[in-house]
Amino acid sequence: MNIGIDKIGFATGQYVLHLEDLAQARDTNPEKLSKGLLLKELSITPVTEDIVTLGATAAEDILTDEDRAAIDMVIVATESGIDQSKAAAVFIHSLLDINPFARSFELKEACYSATAALDYAKLHVSAHPTSKVLVIASDIARYGIKASGEPTQGAGSIAMLVTANPRILIFNDDNVAQTRNIMDFWRPNYSTTPFVDGMFSTRQYLDCLKTTWAEYQKRTGLALKDFSAYCFHLPYPKLALKGLKQIMDKSLSEEQQIQLQENFDSSILYSQKVGNIYTGSLFLGLLSLLENSKHLKAGDQIILFSYGSGAVAEIFSANLVEGYEKQLRTDRLAALDRRSRLTVAEYEAMFFEPVKLDETASTKFTGYENQTYALTEISEHKRVYQKVLAHD
Ligand code: HMG
Repeated sequence: MNIGIDKIGFATGQYVLHLEDLAQARDTNPEKLSKGLLLKELSITPVTEDIVTLGATAAEDILTDEDRAAIDMVIVATESGIDQSKAAAVFIHSLLDINPFARSFELKEACYSATAALDYAKLHVSAHPTSKVLVIASDIARYGIKASGEPTQGAGSIAMLVTANPRILIFNDDNVAQTRNIMDFWRPNYSTTPFVDGMFSTRQYLDCLKTTWAEYQKRTGLALKDFSAYCFHLPYPKLALKGLKQIMDKSLSEEQQIQLQENFDSSILYSQKVGNIYTGSLFLGLLSLLENSKHLKAGDQIILFSYGSGAVAEIFSANLVEGYEKQLRTDRLAALDRRSRLTVAEYEAMFFEPVKLDETASTKFTGYENQTYALTEISEHKRVYQKVLAHD
């Protein structure tokens, strides 16, 4: 049975910080960010937008009433959860009005966990072929004002519907994972921002790519020539470009090398304007590739490298389905260009706004009129979400 991704949705913040503005405010050469990191803009969210509202909005983008009735599992992969106990998936299940007899839960391992969620979804559908599983990767990446990772922040959510006979991608059964216990990036419960050993993290990313890719090739007998495109986890696109150069097989024809490079360029277009969205980054790269590549065709094999600090890495592949382009959008870059541009002072105030609760541990928010879903209030420690706008 063919199992894979039937639909992909995406949501991000409605505000944007241009990195040339950040560079000026931080007295940094703008080319360090545009060429050194290959980043242009970052999506910024207000306090009324979180992983629940972004996740529900990304799913709203793709679900029909029939899907809502057939989904029997909702998995939210995140490392910026809003509660230590209650899963964001439970809020999202309710906001989307999904079949009550569904299983909903959250998964965590830094930026990696959506990959595990997809594999679990695949196993579930293989046992229950009429099931549909909603996998949502949702995160807000906040490093802090003037932190070394500040230009690599971002916010966004990817929703993927995993089914039998999918209309976009069929998963192959070739996943190779690696776990290594390192402290390259982590966020203790008492901290709102992560601790990062930046240079160490980049070396670990590249070494996990090298060693997992070598093991993948050994186990499957496949090589780079067997793939039309390589998608990478994108903490910032320049690191993935280093990854591509590291594994580029010089025995490929010049034409194959150019095609891999051009497909890579297509895969980073959205991340260059959104920033790191942690669990969703790899899949934002996949979506960007599928919606912007001029080379892809049905039957092409795509390989994906997932990396989550801490660290877990995984490489797996999928094949493009005939007619896949009918499930995609062509207006995504234009939508990103409609975000409201913030000054650096506005970004600092909005992205790091603390929630102030009254003596009953409550507060009501305003200013969410343009969101599809919003955190509208906190009432006696309980987060209250509402649908605000019908999705276009
Ligand atoms: P930095 O201070 O920007 O580092 O921090 P840099 O001084 O090395 O500069 C970056 C690049 O800009 C260098 O290029 C410079 O040469 C270049 P490279 O040597 O790498 O090729 N540069 C210039 N280029 C053109 N014109 C100029 C210029 N000046 C300098 N004028 C760092 C970079 C990644 C450390 C920082 O952004 C950071 O801490 N980021 C957060 C951590 C991170 O993203 N790590 C990636 C691997 S870990 C991962 O992927 C997991 C993660 O997503 C989290 C999770 O799993 O949950 C992060």
